[in-house]
Amino acid sequence: MKEYVLGVDLGTSAVKVSAVDRAGHIAAQESFDYPLSQPQPGYSEQNPDEWVNGTAVAIVRLVLNHDIKPEEIAGISYSGQMHGLVLLDAQHKVLRPAMLWNDTRTTAQCQEINKKMGEHFIEITGNRPLEGFTLPKLLWVKENEPNIWAQAKTFLLPKDYVRYRMTDKLAIDYSDATGTVMLDIKQGQWSQEILDTFDIPTSMCPPLIDSVAEAGNVSEAFSIFSGLHQTTKVFGGAADNAAAALGAGIISPNMVLCSIGTSGVILKHEVSAAAKYHGVLQMEDHAVTGQSYSMGVTLAAGYSLNWFKRTFAPHEDFTELVSEASQSAVGANGLLFTPYIMGERTPYADANIRGAFIGVDGTQERHDFTRAVLEGIVFSFRDILDIYDAQHQTYDTIVSVGGGAKSPLWLQIQADVFDTPVVRLENEQGPGMGAAMLAAVGLGWFASFADCAKVFVHYGVTYTPNAENSERYRTLHRIYRQIYQQTQSVSAQLLDYRRANPSVTTD
Ligand code: XUL
Repeated sequence: MKEYVLGVDLGTSAVKVSAVDRAGHIAAQESFDYPLSQPQPGYSEQNPDEWVNGTAVAIVRLVLNHDIKPEEIAGISYSGQMHGLVLLDAQHKVLRPAMLWNDTRTTAQCQEINKKMGEHFIEITGNRPLEGFTLPKLLWVKENEPNIWAQAKTFLLPKDYVRYRMTDKLAIDYSDATGTVMLDIKQGQWSQEILDTFDIPTSMCPPLIDSVAEAGNVSEAFSIFSGLHQTTKVFGGAADNAAAALGAGIISPNMVLCSIGTSGVILKHEVSAAAKYHGVLQMEDHAVTGQSYSMGVTLAAGYSLNWFKRTFAPHEDFTELVSEASQSAVGANGLLFTPYIMGERTPYADANIRGAFIGVDGTQERHDFTRAVLEGIVFSFRDILDIYDAQHQTYDTIVSVGGGAKSPLWLQIQADVFDTPVVRLENEQGPGMGAAMLAAVGLGWFASFADCAKVFVHYGVTYTPNAENSERYRTLHRIYRQIYQQTQSVSAQLLDYRRANPSVTTD
């Protein structure tokens, strides 16, 4: 009998489910889109039911549209958008829309955490409190929605909620638990000190499991809903960045990942979870038990390009729009773009900064603006690599995945700006492949992740830096770095104006 594992990639714009066989081949893939609600500047929410329904629809389509039978699906695991807060009542019913990783309404709560715990918070969690993380969101609900808080009995992160609806069992895996900033990363358990300091009942925290651990079987109710068999085993799953890293073979020291999804991430494998970056970079548990990674996040990477296309080229084909940037030149004919259109996480941690095109003049054309967007996103990654370089961290190859790995032009821009070879995967499938690997190793198809990676992960073309372009980009990046300081106050004033004049909000 044929056998498959399903990798469920629960993203911000869609869920994508991939069926993968023992040889690591994608046998079929289906996805389902869902909306993002931004009712006020800085707010970002989704309805958790849409994730569950979308996952079920994608699974039903996998079976109906492809040659895959439910009894052939041996295991399922997940990759999930990180940090999102799903609040449940005593009956495990969802109490309010989920507040997502890119929701930045919690600046006051982050300040409160800093005031109460300062550097000690970073020692415990490996992270400074940032708006997108889960603890500040819990505190926001407690302070602003007391009626909801009074009913709240437990919380889950997005993929954990989907897993709960598929198995009826509550759990969170360690890679997502680190992203709540309530986990003591050295002890590998919920930090009683943090929970006590902020008066969060310990009973709210779900049980912790390894990403590769068996979390249960498909429940009777979900089996009826989706057509899956109850014999299918369900495994913990991981935060999307951990799953993307696993799917890109980032499982040994000093390997670096450059990932462009809605957000953008530069991620480095770390031998230990010690908080050596003092919270400037995030420290997270990896999907591989006992391993860690550090990362910096550009909140709006793919989101910036999507916004640009939606706003200025709604009827163009995406690939053509991106390749049109080759008609421009290194430096986009004098145009720079900062991708801070949802605020920024690394290196600035500033929810009030906003994006900018600088250097607009009457000679530029749309292809210059497109190129400036592609380059601006990569410059924001360069800012993160500079943090590693300042600490003399070594890496010699960067694996590029996601939207940035789809365009040869964008891959070359990455190699030139990073001044480091950039390799893409042969048949990249996003974090869903990492999720499938978790199920494959969980089922015992492979003795280790390294064995699984030998079969599932294949590197493709390497893009080598062009010395002349790298030199030009070094100069341009020095100019780019000044934009944050010089637009910070203007952005904050404009945001204040917008908040005071909500009628000008166009959402
Ligand atoms: C990481 C982060 C994002 C989300 C995207 O800290 O907030 O990369 O994981 O889903």
